[in-house]
Parts: sequence; structure tokens; C-alpha cells
Amino acid sequence: MSKPRPTAAEKSSVRNGEAPRAALFDAYGTLFDVYSVGLLAEQLFPGHGQALGLLWRDKQIDYTRLVTTCNHGAHYQPFWALTRAALVYSLKRIVAPTAAPGADFAPQIERLMNQYRHLSAFPEIKTVLSTLKAQGIPTGILSNGDAAMLNLAVKSAGLDGLLDHVISVDPIRKYKTHPEAYALGEQTTGLSASQILFVSSNAWDALAATWYGYQTLWVNRYQLPFEELGTQPTRSGSSLRDVLAFFPAPTN
Ligand code: LAC
Repeated sequence: MSKPRPTAAEKSSVRNGEAPRAALFDAYGTLFDVYSVGLLAEQLFPGHGQALGLLWRDKQIDYTRLVTTCNHGAHYQPFWALTRAALVYSLKRIVAPTAAPGADFAPQIERLMNQYRHLSAFPEIKTVLSTLKAQGIPTGILSNGDAAMLNLAVKSAGLDGLLDHVISVDPIRKYKTHPEAYALGEQTTGLSASQILFVSSNAWDALAATWYGYQTLWVNRYQLPFEELGTQPTRSGSSLRDVLAFFPAPTN
């Protein structure tokens, strides 16, 4: 009896080493679309939405690194608090200089934070997670978000029941890109990083996960350049559908 020919997906997973046995996803910008937050920012502060959205995101990540690297974590705050602090900073920097003196933006801050709490998921993720589930592949989120915000995001995006794990770095009080944060994925699944696909739309996250030892997919929706530090993710793609090529369907 002749051996069945490998499918294209199987060939490519062989080319890149062992096919992964689990898939873990970054949350914000990867599973959950933060675009609506930029739209609301533009509605609330016409002409400033884009700059505000960009600085808010950069500051949020900047703060995660500050509190992880300084004084052995003594200044740790959960991601929700850092997200709010980053928004307040961004408003002071971008909007306050042209606003009425003393404006504190409290109602707008509440609206933007509320929008951040209820993001929608990128539409293709439901099919991807259902397909992986049917193949018996464990899936989860590995995120800087704290458990309360992640659980609410999963629920409001209609993903509950489709993910096996929602892993937050909050219990260890160290944010990605700290290696202990990436180690949570191994501890939770019982697999080694090289047996897990880690998926992120954040280039820095895909890079750090690759350095840690994960197989990685960088979902580059907006044709951005990857980080210039000499390492590439295992693969790049343009949507979450590209996850499925890592998991060849079993042949009978
Ligand atoms: C997260 C951020 C970094 O979900 O997107 O971890």
C-alpha cells in the first residue's frame, strides 16, 4: 500500500520542525480588535484620535516594561490600571495643550476605558478556534491583561467555550516580555515552548516569544515591518486563519 502524499500544510510543518500541539494567543490587537477604541477617540477628540490611539498603546506597553524591570517588581500594577494611566498620560500630552485649562477628561476616560473593556474579536477567530477544537488541539490566551479584563473580553467577544485556557501574567506580577511570563504557557499546557504555537500581532511579542523558544506566528494585518533585531518569527501571516497551516488536518 502506498503512503498517502503529505498535504502542503503537512510539508510546511515538517519543514519548520515538529508540528505544534497547542496554540496560545496574545489578546489585545491579536484576538481583540482595538480599532473601535481609535474610532471613539477620534469622535471624542476630533483630529487627535490616531495620535492618541498610538501613544496610548505605546505608553501602556512602556509602563509594563517599567514596572517589570524596576526594583524587582515593587511598582507592579495590574494591566487595567496601567492602561488607564497610559490613557491619562496620552490625553495630557496630546489633547490637554489645546483644551480648556483644568479639563480633566473624566467622562471621556470612562467611555474609552469602557470601550476597551468590550472589544470585538477579529471575525475569523471563531472558525479557527472551532477547527482547532475539532482537531483536539488545546488553545488559550497568554496575555498581560488581568483575569477580570480578559474574562470580560472573552465573554463580550463571544469566545467563551472556545478556549481551553485564559492565562494572565497577573499572578506572577511580571509582564511579557519577561521569560517567567512566557513560561506560564508551558506550565499551563504541560508542553515545552517548542511544542506550542504562540500567535501575536505585536511584533515585539512575537520576537520575544521566538527568543523564548516558542514556534511563532506574527499576524501582520497592517503590512508593518518586523523588529530589526536579527530574529524572525517562525512565520508571518495576514490573518488568524494562518494559524491553521501549522496544524495539518489528520488524514485517515
Ligand atoms: C497582551 C497585550 C500585550 O494581550 O496585547 O498581552
